[in-house]
Amino acid sequence: MTTRPLIYAANWKMNHGPEAAREFIERFIALTAPAAGRSLWFFPPAVSLAPVSHAARTRADILTGAQNVHWEPKGAYTGEVSIPMVQQAGAKTALVGHSERRHLFGETDDQVARKTAALLKAGLVPLVCVGETLAEREGGRTEHVIVRQLEPLLDKVPAAEWARLVIAYEPVWAIGTGRNATPDDAAQVHELIRFAVGRCGVPGRIPILYGGSVNAGNVLGLLARPELDGVLVGGASLDADGWAELVGLG
Ligand code: PGA
Repeated sequence: MTTRPLIYAANWKMNHGPEAAREFIERFIALTAPAAGRSLWFFPPAVSLAPVSHAARTRADILTGAQNVHWEPKGAYTGEVSIPMVQQAGAKTALVGHSERRHLFGETDDQVARKTAALLKAGLVPLVCVGETLAEREGGRTEHVIVRQLEPLLDKVPAAEWARLVIAYEPVWAIGTGRNATPDDAAQVHELIRFAVGRCGVPGRIPILYGGSVNAGNVLGLLARPELDGVLVGGASLDADGWAELVGLG
């Protein structure tokens, strides 16, 4: 049990096209009621943003977001989606720098910073993902990697604007592997992020979610740590009944 505001974010990745997404959200809405201090964020594929936003329009506790955006508002960028486009589809937030974008599609720290700055400028909430690989963790380089990922962000985003930004700590070795970070591991890195950001003059306490193999069996242990402000969940968010159950546990 916790009294601080919590964010439960569902990252559907490349699952649930428009029809399946609409069915999911309708069922999820039927299974859940708004709860004080709990926000439910959904990141459907871009083509499913509009139906999810539309179906959830009566639920102020539900926010939809894009999984990725380009930093330019329009232009010759085949295959990309712009911030104004996702806004028209109802997005209020967007993931930036998810490890699959970084590691499978070569997204750089600098691109992550550009996307983040563009989202803030447009009035959307960036949910910026950071995290180390297994080799980096085992090589004792977790802190170095996280700080390196944060640096271009700290350069491009003025300190005062960090109040509108959310971070997700997602260790790459925990994503989709069934091997989650322990609550202690996660809490330690969350503190490290807050320290690194605070040292650069960012005021206040930024919200940080944990992601990586979160499920109904480990979510309470993770959220028992006050350093965590919520969870970003892939696999365990794909079934409406299971996800409704998980968000009801806390
Ligand atoms: P997972 O994915 O919950 O399936 O590990 C988390 C994520 O990639 O955001």
